[in-house]
Amino acid sequence: MTPDSDVFPVRPEVAASAWINETDYARLYERSLADPDGFWREQAGRLDWFKPFTSVKDASFDGEVDVRWFADGVLNASYNCLDRHLATRGDQVALIWEGDDPGESSSVTYREAHEQVCRLANVLKSHGVKKGDRVTIYLPMILEAAYAMLACARIGAVHSVVFGGFSSDSLKDRILDCGSNFLITADEGVRGGRRLPLKANADKAVAACAAVRHILVVRRAGGTVAWEPGRDLWYHEEMSKASPVCDPEPMGAEDPLFILYTSGSTGKPKGVVHTTAGYLLYTALTHKYVFDYKDGEIYWCTADVGWITGHSYIVYGPLANGATSLIFEGVPYYPDHSRFWSVVDKHRVNIFYTAPTAIRSVMREGDQWVKKTSRATLRVLGSVGEPINPEAWLWFHEVVGEGRCAIADTWFQTETGGFMIAPLIGAFGVKPGSATKPFFGVRPVIVDHNGQALEGACEGSLCIADAWPGMARTIFGDHARFVQTYFSAFPGKYFTGDGAQRDGDGYYWITGRVDDVINVSGHRLGTAEIESALEAHPKVAEAAVVGYPHDLKGQGIYVYVTLNAGESPSQALREELVKWVRQEIGPIAAPDQIHWATDLPKTRSGKIMRRILRKIAANDVEALGDTSTLADPGVISDLVGGRGKGG
Ligand code: WT7
Repeated sequence: MTPDSDVFPVRPEVAASAWINETDYARLYERSLADPDGFWREQAGRLDWFKPFTSVKDASFDGEVDVRWFADGVLNASYNCLDRHLATRGDQVALIWEGDDPGESSSVTYREAHEQVCRLANVLKSHGVKKGDRVTIYLPMILEAAYAMLACARIGAVHSVVFGGFSSDSLKDRILDCGSNFLITADEGVRGGRRLPLKANADKAVAACAAVRHILVVRRAGGTVAWEPGRDLWYHEEMSKASPVCDPEPMGAEDPLFILYTSGSTGKPKGVVHTTAGYLLYTALTHKYVFDYKDGEIYWCTADVGWITGHSYIVYGPLANGATSLIFEGVPYYPDHSRFWSVVDKHRVNIFYTAPTAIRSVMREGDQWVKKTSRATLRVLGSVGEPINPEAWLWFHEVVGEGRCAIADTWFQTETGGFMIAPLIGAFGVKPGSATKPFFGVRPVIVDHNGQALEGACEGSLCIADAWPGMARTIFGDHARFVQTYFSAFPGKYFTGDGAQRDGDGYYWITGRVDDVINVSGHRLGTAEIESALEAHPKVAEAAVVGYPHDLKGQGIYVYVTLNAGESPSQALREELVKWVRQEIGPIAAPDQIHWATDLPKTRSGKIMRRILRKIAANDVEALGDTSTLADPGVISDLVGGRGKGG
């Protein structure tokens, strides 16, 4: 869709009752840029502080890159998400859990969640977990995942949640990188009627992690698991012994709240560090204003807690706002393709937030799965994770939302903590495919190759010119890599890694990654990571990985492989390599296409020309561009001829 496409205006009744309407947005946005200290000082009043802050913003994107917000304030995130609501909404439901099996669901009030979190915090303490220690959480989508995060926050331990779909190797790398000595997992996960061997993976991972003293195991599925007495602890046994009273640890605003690993263009995944006050304030504010969340509404984000969306918009933002947040264990196609909408009806969901890949997967099954449900409670529909194609956007709006729901396409990243470009649904109209305009305090700039900021309607690399409270502060254990990754391409600016267009109305259109990161079903993967996994296989000489357009996943994983001398391509080897990558990284990284190559296109200095590989993968071989710098131009015709023969 082109930037001058139709605008879907805010419906008058939405604007009339919204927290923020168009005039408010214009006034507040301008103020947030002109007087960041004044703006954020006022906003920070929505958190409860043990000791008030005096300084607000203290940030520099130059040199060492040092970002602090509310630095001398003292607070606790779990207190803000739980304790402070007890007087006013202790009996309100905080979390609804919908199991994989539609017959299983439960809910807890703020009072009950508070008690569980306090008990778990005491369990952690009783096993020696202290402020500043890193605790790894490898859990399925169950209430205990939220309790575990909040229990860490309560005692000042730093959580590192690892997505349950990652392999034991990926888990091991993440445990070692942050030096975690305590792991929380479950016997098995349950998804789409299938079991995921979480404890078995954890055992394998921990075998190589001498520092891990304990594995705390939630009994979810009930199957038998291997057990190491002394090291392994049953969650239910420990919880029944623990006291339900636990004072929240006073935390500095800039004390780390969590580490979350994400992929970049080079090397191993990096541990992005978020701190306490700025992150919590930013996620609460964006959740409230973008979705126009009103007291008592039922809010459901379908992301996994293993991603930033789950951290910010299942747990921290909603609970800081006293919302009712739904945690879903299952998948959109189980037991049938109506699942999303039957859960919406069952729990009377008002705000439903999902990813384009999920929308496309239910869309292709036909409207009948949607139409047999009511969805009358729905008011807002959200999308995140990748650019949403207008066809999926329109279907979401017309079929799911019956034309009456507001649509919020929210652009953000693990590193940004919360929404950066997203509509405030009461404030301005939306255009299908555009994440619209910046949130308060966010200064997007589009730059050209020379780092020159472009004005008006333009296209280029998307940067952010100044600090916002929710941004990552560093990469765990490697601040130099933080500076190098985000602040060196365009000095003085945070570089997002995304390309974007800005249209004449000031709307932003994210065009996708401009680095060697691919986005598969909204999951971010580094091509270098997949390449090094493949190159570790004994039969592989060299691998090059690129993304290519994929109807369902947005991008698919296209792999060029050259084999060692004496090896030859076969269907069996293809399957073996796919299995290998699933084991090394996880099922989300499984290649979609394998292209057997005798050689890869390289420059004379030996650099692989990915631009050409991307074009061949996309079957766009008419315009390969300048190939004169290739060491051996003959490679190209071999590759073009070999396309589709191996995959
Ligand atoms: C990358 C961040 C934060 C959401 C989960 C993914 C892409 C995210 C959108 C959107 C276009 C989007 C970008 C971004 N992305 N949301 N609404 N429109 N692209 O978090 O794993 O850190 O990935 O996801 O490319 O850089 P993440």
